[in-house]
Amino acid sequence: MDMRRLRYYVAVAEEKSFTKAAEKLFIAQPPLSRQIQNLETDLGVLLFERGSRPLKMTPAGEFLYQHAVKLLSNAAEIRAMTQRIGGLEHTVTMGFVGSLLYGLLSKIVYLYSQQQPHLKIEMIEMTTMQQVTALKEGRIDVGFGRLRISDPAVKRVLLREEPLFLALHSNHHLLAQKEGVYLSDIVDENIFLYPNHVQPSFATQVQNLFSEYHLDPTNLRTVRELQLALGFVAAGIGVCIVPESARSIQLAHLHYIPILDQSAVSPIFMSIRNLDKSKDITALFECIYQIYEMEGIKYERHYKG
Ligand code: BEZ
Repeated sequence: MDMRRLRYYVAVAEEKSFTKAAEKLFIAQPPLSRQIQNLETDLGVLLFERGSRPLKMTPAGEFLYQHAVKLLSNAAEIRAMTQRIGGLEHTVTMGFVGSLLYGLLSKIVYLYSQQQPHLKIEMIEMTTMQQVTALKEGRIDVGFGRLRISDPAVKRVLLREEPLFLALHSNHHLLAQKEGVYLSDIVDENIFLYPNHVQPSFATQVQNLFSEYHLDPTNLRTVRELQLALGFVAAGIGVCIVPESARSIQLAHLHYIPILDQSAVSPIFMSIRNLDKSKDITALFECIYQIYEMEGIKYERHYKG
């Protein structure tokens, strides 16, 4: 099937108008209408109900639309992969969510660059959602994030589940419980969540965690980012839940204690394109597992080449 015609068809189906689709595609309307007619003639079926305004797809048109979207997305993925293998072989571009920098990301990248000196490594901070789009468009080769986002073109591998800690002020009464606290101990506290610019986010994960234990904290405040939340905690105006790696952030009067509930963990995922079987990616997984061994971190190997 002619990919250009399919692209035209998807645009008309999405815009529900030949005029708007032609504008979106930067072409004139008559050739666009002709291409859609040719497609209908080729297939021997009507794709749009005649006379409908806005345009309405026939059942056959709906079927074609669903499959055309998938086909075009696969084609974009194949293009990105081919370009990567052909030309960009020596660059690995990583997307990552900011909070991972406080943990092992820098160690992993450093070791990987030592082990793969022929590679140029680039790093771009982006949300987990942005990573999925960037992977499909070939702008990054791997993504590191904390959210469980599914997409048929992307393989998401769980690397490990990082324990959660409570950040609190040195004068906070809960600091006496050095061995840790339960979520039920902090429902009445002022709790700072972060970040506030995207949904879903780590803030959503923390809220879901409370819901899982049927807890309903009343004083939640979502702030822009982790550093701000920890700054407020250091000022003694609340507490904040963070992944263990954030403990490397040290401020005067800021302390961290474990959260003891079993589900109090934050997953760390590595995402790659489904079709990507390159040696660079396999080597990166091996490097991560090596760091886990060196750091004595518990993990399961979920990556199977
Ligand atoms: C980790 O802390 O496990 C991790 C961080 C960034 C990338 C991969 C793993």
